[in-house]
Amino acid sequence: MSSSSFSFDPKLCETFTSPTNIAVIKYWGKNDVKLNTPMNSSVSLTLDQSDLHTITSVAASKTFQEDKLWLNDIETEINGRGQVCLREIRRLAQDRIDPETGKVLVSKSEWDQYKVHISSVNTFPTGAGLASSAAGLCCLVKALSELFCAKEEYPGQFTAICRQGSGSASRSWYGGFVRWQKGEKLDGTDSIAVQIADENHWPEMRAVILVVSDKEKDTSSTSGMETSRLTSPLLQYRATSVVQPRLDEIEAAYLAKDFETFGRITMQDSNQFHATCLDTYPPIFYMNDVSKSIIKLVHVINEKAGKVIASYTFDAGPNAVIYTLEKDVELVFAVMARYFPAPGVPSDYCNNPDAYSKIVSNSSNYLNNDLIQSLNSTGRIPRAGDVKYMFLTKPGPGPIRQPSNESLLDPKTGGPIAPGPSHKRLKISH
Ligand code: DP6
Repeated sequence: MSSSSFSFDPKLCETFTSPTNIAVIKYWGKNDVKLNTPMNSSVSLTLDQSDLHTITSVAASKTFQEDKLWLNDIETEINGRGQVCLREIRRLAQDRIDPETGKVLVSKSEWDQYKVHISSVNTFPTGAGLASSAAGLCCLVKALSELFCAKEEYPGQFTAICRQGSGSASRSWYGGFVRWQKGEKLDGTDSIAVQIADENHWPEMRAVILVVSDKEKDTSSTSGMETSRLTSPLLQYRATSVVQPRLDEIEAAYLAKDFETFGRITMQDSNQFHATCLDTYPPIFYMNDVSKSIIKLVHVINEKAGKVIASYTFDAGPNAVIYTLEKDVELVFAVMARYFPAPGVPSDYCNNPDAYSKIVSNSSNYLNNDLIQSLNSTGRIPRAGDVKYMFLTKPGPGPIRQPSNESLLDPKTGGPIAPGPSHKRLKISH
């Protein structure tokens, strides 16, 4: 069959963008591998999609012979977890009505004659510890649920489907500060995400992301956490005794906008997660020496401020996310830009090159000699190249529907088309 015989009605296509999220209480370890339920609840901040996102289009047609996926333009097999998401959403499908005419486009009983084509693009490095699976799987489930006009059987079911795609994806369903609760039921139906505070609750919150490596990590989260569960006594202790009180404290701190508590717990929890990785046998190393130098610099910033004004967190990779408040973001950024300067022009190094240039040229406003001396005493010498890219971002909303002219699928061929300029893939120079 020639590719031109695959076509679809543009009314049977949905396009969404989805954000990434970075946990401040980490998920690590599964209770049930099949249901993908966690050993402990976790909580994260959803980041602004205008800085980092996945965009996904899904289209349904009777002319499609099989479900197909293009990831960053390359045809890729839909893995087991993706299949589960597709199957679960299909099960919840309802009639799709044309909003203009009120006519039924596809009735509930007809959906089994339709296959789907999916095209998905990440604007940021995939598999490098920037939660690309969270943005990707959440976007897939959101776009499919809208295409099939799916209806939840219980509140939070869509987030439970995201969870089966990738645990952290459940938290990208909502904006702001989001908890993925562990749940108690054996069928996993209460292991869902809930929004604690929306993206407007703490508008001063900022995130500085330092991309230390954009290479795919060598131990995936899925396999790493399974080895940790089997071998790390610290992980068991963490899940049973540490997480819940921390979760209660950090949620209350977020709601009360108490940055000191929020920041301290964020750092402590990142450190404990990486300690469980070291306690895993054989050990897993996600952070490297550059990550460790970032940690030391942040502690000097806090020491000099006399309180916690910056807090780092690291996922399953060496990249740092530093949460701070608007009033301190220029100081934090100036420190990081001094010790990890751009190797070339700021537009190749930062998503907000104007802010980068402005902060760097005014850096003497933030960095006095005393602070520089203390920062130098960490042993870090300013050098370009150790950090590949910097993002300056903030919390943002959950998935957003895109107009049909942003679609990544061509109605005439059913194949992928390049994303528009606002979804450009980030190129990192080495
Ligand atoms: C370190 O959600 O990627 O980022 O459920 O196996 O797909 P799977 O794992 P994934 O793990 C994320 C781990 C983490 C911590 C977190 O995001 O909470």
